[in-house]
Amino acid sequence: MTASLQGLSIFLIGMMGSGKSTVGKVLAHHLNYRFFDSDVLIEKVAQQSITEIFQDQGETAFREIETQILRELSACLRSVIATGGGVVLEQMNWSHLRQGLIIWLDVPIDLLVQRLEKDRTRPLLQQGDLRAKLTTLLDQRKALYGEADLIISLQAGQSPEQLAELILERIPLVLKSGEGDLRSQNN
Ligand code: S3P
Repeated sequence: MTASLQGLSIFLIGMMGSGKSTVGKVLAHHLNYRFFDSDVLIEKVAQQSITEIFQDQGETAFREIETQILRELSACLRSVIATGGGVVLEQMNWSHLRQGLIIWLDVPIDLLVQRLEKDRTRPLLQQGDLRAKLTTLLDQRKALYGEADLIISLQAGQSPEQLAELILERIPLVLKSGEGDLRSQNN
């Protein structure tokens, strides 16, 4: 598997609560890759929590830091990168994401609601009805997430380990269909 990826990094995209970090860590372990969580790096660079960045500097400033971090991560080989759910919104981010293999973890709204009910760390979800908010965000982003090289739709009850295995099974198929030319697409 690692041989067929030839060091190509993996970017996990998808909604908040879709399990990018959890699945990403398992995947990185299987591939003997490094794991990065872009939100964690943003917090380190800003020396503030995501909530504080949104409060003090606003979403636009957050998105600028996010792009800067993504640019740096896109230079890394042999890495699995869990991105923030809104990374797909900025056109410039796509040129960074396209440096690797992009995988969308597509998770049903019901499950996202269940996972995020008690969450206090995502500023975009702290006001209003959670389901309505998630539905609106997903409607706005679905087509963008759909630009991924590989789409993994979560079935009820699948564990992170099972998802990672499924991803590992599917990667060679995507690399084949891309005729080994994924890195030059849309750059
Ligand atoms: C966001 C997702 C969050 C974080 C920020 C904004 C979004 O990351 O970057 O709260 O716009 O969807 P996760 O997807 O890791 O929760």
